[in-house]
Amino acid sequence: MTKRIFSGAQPTGNVHLGNYLGALRNWVALQHEYESFFCIVNLHAITVAQDPAQLVEKTRDLARIYLAVGIDPQVSTVFVQSDVKEHAELTWVLNCIARMSELERMTQYKDKARKQQENITVGLFDYPVLMAADILLYQTDLVPVGDDQRQHLELTRDVAIRFNRDYGETFKVPDAYIPKIGARIMSLSDPSKKMSKSDDDPNGCVLLMDDADAIQKKFKRAVTDSGTEIRFDESRPAINNLLEIYHLITRKSQQEVEDHFAGKGYAQLKGDLAEVTIEFLRPIQQRVREITDEQLDAILDQGREKAEQIARVTLEQVFKRTGLSL
Ligand code: AMP
Ligand code: TRP
Repeated sequence: MTKRIFSGAQPTGNVHLGNYLGALRNWVALQHEYESFFCIVNLHAITVAQDPAQLVEKTRDLARIYLAVGIDPQVSTVFVQSDVKEHAELTWVLNCIARMSELERMTQYKDKARKQQENITVGLFDYPVLMAADILLYQTDLVPVGDDQRQHLELTRDVAIRFNRDYGETFKVPDAYIPKIGARIMSLSDPSKKMSKSDDDPNGCVLLMDDADAIQKKFKRAVTDSGTEIRFDESRPAINNLLEIYHLITRKSQQEVEDHFAGKGYAQLKGDLAEVTIEFLRPIQQRVREITDEQLDAILDQGREKAEQIARVTLEQVFKRTGLSL
């Protein structure tokens, strides 16, 4: 049987190069080998406050991005999480499997809670269980994500194993797919932090929809390390990050990249990086603008139907096993 992948991203802001290089790029590459489900996880988005009208727009924008970067709706299922009620239903059941102590250990929760301090919702705490439900509903084999999701994947596996042990073999136990390079693209303004849409300094984060001027400016201002040599070296995180981005976007080997920059200076690296990024994003931005509302609606409707069929089967089994269906 063809193996399945499932992944998702939150419609909470603008998609950036980290999201693309760490996750979306691999979704596109894997979709032809696996039966693929790509979800816009709007239920996760509301774990922190969202403006309702904007959330609708951002959900649709993210779906457009999925398609524009190369997710093919003919082979992959693209859908919105809240369209498939089973996600919320399975979350409840899994809430009664997952332990408080497990969720209290989640570093992403601790980070977000620390930043927010007040009004931390139960939803934010429960976020990883909803993510486990997303994945387990589809009997997923592989979950392509960036490095920051590693711990959530571990929790998903633990919850699946515990459920299977207590109620009988029900869920496939999924593996994470985290790329060796690109899983943690760092901020251009602070290479000790990951590139993030919630970065205080917007210059640290290159957005997929940034125009040429913005891209040039951001790379130009990127911090560098001391020294002058341009080669892959993890002890020099700023240059290493810029080279990783260049390597992934151009698909040149690391050796070719180092040869290309041999004897050149940081200004050249930044200029070249801006140029290849602008050229790379141009057709993606063009496709985002070309997708009509009608096309998008049709793709999301079709996605919902396909996703529902599979999710329903799993949830029925879960209800039977747990004594919830009479
Ligand atoms: P999010 O937008 O937070 O829903 O993230 C969507 C995907 O992008 C997830 O698989 C993340 O792990 C990945 N991701 C987010 N930030 C980065 C980053 N700086 N580098 C690599 N991958 C990332
Ligand atoms: N938590 C993920 C993130 O922020 C998004 C996500 C939700 C997800 N459900 C998922 C990713 C299921 C993979 C599989 O990036």
